Amino acid sequence: MVINYGKHFIDDDDLKNVLNTLKSNKITQGPQTINFENELKKYFKSKFCSVVSSGTAALHLVGKALNWKEGDVILLPAITFLATANCVEYNNATVCLVDVNKNQNTIDVNDVDRKIRKYRKKVKAIIGVDYAGYPCDWIKLKKIAKKYKIVLINDNCHAMGTAIKGDKGYALKYADIITHSYHPVKSFTTGEGGAILTNNKIIDSKIKILRNHGIVNREKSEKLKPWLYQMKYLGFNYRMSDINAALGRSQLKKIDKFVKKRNKIAEIYDKNFQKLKFFEVPPRNKDILSSYHLYNLKIDFKKLKKNKRDFFIYLKKNLINAQVHYIPIYKQPYYKNKYKFKHVDYPNSEIFYQNEVSIPIYYSLKEKDITYILKKIFQYFSRCK
Ligand SMILES: Cc1ncc(COP(=O)(O)O)c(C=O)c1O
Repeated sequence: MVINYGKHFIDDDDLKNVLNTLKSNKITQGPQTINFENELKKYFKSKFCSVVSSGTAALHLVGKALNWKEGDVILLPAITFLATANCVEYNNATVCLVDVNKNQNTIDVNDVDRKIRKYRKKVKAIIGVDYAGYPCDWIKLKKIAKKYKIVLINDNCHAMGTAIKGDKGYALKYADIITHSYHPVKSFTTGEGGAILTNNKIIDSKIKILRNHGIVNREKSEKLKPWLYQMKYLGFNYRMSDINAALGRSQLKKIDKFVKKRNKIAEIYDKNFQKLKFFEVPPRNKDILSSYHLYNLKIDFKKLKKNKRDFFIYLKKNLINAQVHYIPIYKQPYYKNKYKFKHVDYPNSEIFYQNEVSIPIYYSLKEKDITYILKKIFQYFSRCK
């Protein structure tokens, strides 16, 4: 069987919860959704939470709620999933890509500063991505955001379960809004799903209206005419169903267990890869517990005169499905054509892309699988020094 870079884990509790919901009277937005939102608020220490149909929908709605429009500039890292940039495009604003830093693979604060000085008041928001589960330099980002009065967003899709100094609610200490994705390869899953968490009541109520077609004042209207509903904004159907929320509720109970196991696997990988200097392991810091959404190994293929493509083919032949997270946004045809981005402007992202390989890490990965993966990788590089 192929060992994928990531995988979900479903147990009997998950099955029972979903089945009970399927047998209930409400399978779209209902009690499971409300309870799931309350449990998310508690775990991630937010005042408000809106669950939605995906992490992409969450980002789209954030831009809508903040009224992004043509001419607005939104800063985001060059290394992230497409959705982080696409949400800017959906709102007709301008994507401004920022290089990542060398070691943490997160948005480079010096480049953020440069870009703000270049675009000045047009910059409306910074989206940081806690890449692979390792947090951005949020202290510095918050300072910058405060100085220039810019909204700070944490696309936290990789880092549910990450903690700074033991605090799993760290993200909203710095960012104004955070977004989650509950896609199956993430820290925990709802199948498809996402959420927006914030301490800002106005933003939250806008999001709750926009995820449900832009319909407002339903209760008030019902008193006037029982059938009445009023659409005030152009909204969407981005609701999460109670079936997905039921799964999310039992999955959330396991998040700490999932993260603990991922840390255990990362420790074994680190210990082995650190033996050879051409491997670079993910960043570590005693104050940070990473969710290890990914285990991003960096290999200096150029120096070793090895070909990354050959390595991937070799892994595939050996039933190991690695991946690259991510192809830099500026290399994607849509963005390259529209913005005329030049790779020379992103030196760290370029090196990252040459070297990065995401190797399997997930809760149900067995010890014998880890041993096998290590054996195969070390075999491939056996003649390298
Ligand atoms: C950083 C980041 N942002 C946004 C998303 C989008 O989430 P979803 O797949 O739930 O739409 C992802 C998903 O892979 C992601 O990794």
